[in-house]
Amino acid sequence: MPLPRHVGIIMDGNGRWAELRGQSRVEGHRVGADSVRDVTRAAREIGLEAITLYAFSSQNWSRPASEVSALMDLLREYLLGERDEIMDNGIRLAAIGDVERLPSRVQDPLDALRAESANNTGMVLTLALSYGGRESIARAVAALARDVAAGTLDPSTIDVDAVNRYLPTHALPPLDLLIRTSGEQRISNFMLWELAYAELIFTDVLWPDFRRQHLFACLEQYGTRERRFGLTSGQIVASDVETDVEST
Ligand code: FPP
Repeated sequence: MPLPRHVGIIMDGNGRWAELRGQSRVEGHRVGADSVRDVTRAAREIGLEAITLYAFSSQNWSRPASEVSALMDLLREYLLGERDEIMDNGIRLAAIGDVERLPSRVQDPLDALRAESANNTGMVLTLALSYGGRESIARAVAALARDVAAGTLDPSTIDVDAVNRYLPTHALPPLDLLIRTSGEQRISNFMLWELAYAELIFTDVLWPDFRRQHLFACLEQYGTRERRFGLTSGQIVASDVETDVEST
């Protein structure tokens, strides 16, 4: 079964999960952090090269201050508590987004673990923090414009690969699969550029209930998809046959 190299997850439904149980929204985030641990472990075990988790969007800053603060506490707890797991399993921790906006109680352990795990060669776990897809593209465009103005970039050479190099995801494998939990079917400003040819899976499971068996079910569904990248089905089948002949 073909495995995706890189899976992105929009972890949605923490608030509803808690409200259904008469609990505070923060309790949903707390159990959601347990799902992060379980899913990350499973992704590493099954051999994914990269997973990217939408943990806090640029727009989430506008949530009630108490919820933002509780999420920051959970992130800190996660970064400190998962250090051994990340290091023992050769995982490289990365982050995308406007991380300078995070409070130092999150930024400090994030920077420390990013630095400590920088030479790990196993799976890359990227946390999207204070992240927005449009914001990310806007930053890339600004950096690109600066280089054109400085004379280090020739505008006539700007193509898809050139833009890609300015994005924070440039060193990651292409995003093959996006999973969104909780039944919502939208992208909510996540990895807009990178999603170009990703397969999309929307599941009704709320994030705090989403565990390894749900990830495996999504990977199985991904395995049944025919990815055409703009080609015809016939071309894809023919190139599969060629690859099979070449490899025998
Ligand atoms: C969306 O659910 C979820 C978030 C905004 C935060 C995600 C955070 C975690 C899973 C926990 C901490 C993260 C890590 C990496 C340890 P929602 O609150 O929008 O749910 P709702 O749509 O049901 O209200």
